[in-house]
Amino acid sequence: MNSEQSSIVIHEISKLQTPEQLWNPYDWYHDMLVNNPIYYDEKQNVWNVFRYDDVNMVLSDFKLFSSIRKRSVSPIPPVITRVDINSTDPPIQRDIRKLVSSAFTPRSLKEWEPRIRNIAKELINKMKQMNKPDIVSDLAVPLPVTVISDLLGTPRQDLHHIKNWSDILFFPNSEVNVTDQAKRKYRAMSEFNEYLLPIVKGKRQNPEKDIISDLTLAAYEGTQLTDEEVVIFSLGLLAAGNETTTNLLANMFYTFVYEQKGIYQEILSNRSLISNAIEETLRYRFPITLDRVVTLDSHVLGVPMKKGDVIVVWLGAANNDAQQFPEPNKFDIHRENSNKHLSFGKGPHFCLGAPLARLEAQIALECFVETFADIVETEAFNPALHLHKGTQNLLTLPVELKILDRSII
Ligand code: HEM
Repeated sequence: MNSEQSSIVIHEISKLQTPEQLWNPYDWYHDMLVNNPIYYDEKQNVWNVFRYDDVNMVLSDFKLFSSIRKRSVSPIPPVITRVDINSTDPPIQRDIRKLVSSAFTPRSLKEWEPRIRNIAKELINKMKQMNKPDIVSDLAVPLPVTVISDLLGTPRQDLHHIKNWSDILFFPNSEVNVTDQAKRKYRAMSEFNEYLLPIVKGKRQNPEKDIISDLTLAAYEGTQLTDEEVVIFSLGLLAAGNETTTNLLANMFYTFVYEQKGIYQEILSNRSLISNAIEETLRYRFPITLDRVVTLDSHVLGVPMKKGDVIVVWLGAANNDAQQFPEPNKFDIHRENSNKHLSFGKGPHFCLGAPLARLEAQIALECFVETFADIVETEAFNPALHLHKGTQNLLTLPVELKILDRSII
């Protein structure tokens, strides 16, 4: 099966085609949640599930809704490997996850916290000196790529390559220029592989204190991982740790500056609100879809699903379900259940990097409030004009920063 046949094109289902619709999908979410909470899309040949409880059930019940699948919304070309964490179910997925899970626990990340804080401080210090700082290019892009590369142990001078390959791999599936896109992705994948292979070989000879070195020492099914397996696993971690966290940071600051003015001041005077501001961003503005395959004929969701049917779950819509989050269209950092959002998934595949993404956002915002008295818009800024084409990702976010008299950074 080639990538054209195996990919599911999300934009063909949602019809969120214009940049304005992509940036504000809320009316469509509402329409689906109320009028069409589960429906079959004939063209893409998939079920679509929107409501919070239903999405929760699909992601939690891996026996009925499996990750072992041939078609996917994932824009990353499939790779055949023994250590494929994304397309397996427990117990195999659990064993693969164990190869790296210890590196991402909150306790392990405690050791990393000072390093992450230094990276954030350095970036924010540079922003202090700038006439026209840009949240995306000066913070939201460099922070996650630097942190994940340091964790894995790849050289700092190569960050731009890693970011570039990750961007190409994560570019959403589309029905336009399919062949060109597939070629670009395979090229990026093979360049990324070629880049990582000598690094992996080097670390196998001289292990250091980083995740790639740990993987070269790790055993799976009684044998050590091969260099190629370490490469593909590392590539997945490097790519997964990038774009998502960039979007979290960019969307959070966008909301403070352009959508809900006053929140930054509130956080400045009460820093205990920081973690909820992060969770509420993940709930309110984080469009993300996942997919699963039905393993048995089932009526459990109230419609007749057949073994082998593909289901797309719309996490962004579930996070805007009024049954779970009253007044869902309100960005409310005092909401008590913001952290019940599904943006990190649910069940056995729950995002391994969630503690890292949360920590990066927490540190970034803490450093911000220690440095800037205010963050305001520069000019009329229309986000829809600044999206990475065909995506819901901001390419730029210009702001004006007012430095605190007692800035401690
Ligand atoms: C805001 C940031 C992030 C978001 C919203 C996010 C979202 C997700 C989601 C929804 C899943 C579940 C996939 C599924 O159920 O099929 C997932 C899995 C995963 N994420 Fe993240 N992610 C983020 C950051 C990160 C970071 C920083 C890393 C670091 C390496 C990471 C690594 C992974 C891995 C390895 C998995 C697969 C886990 C498994 O299948 O057991 N993610 N992520």
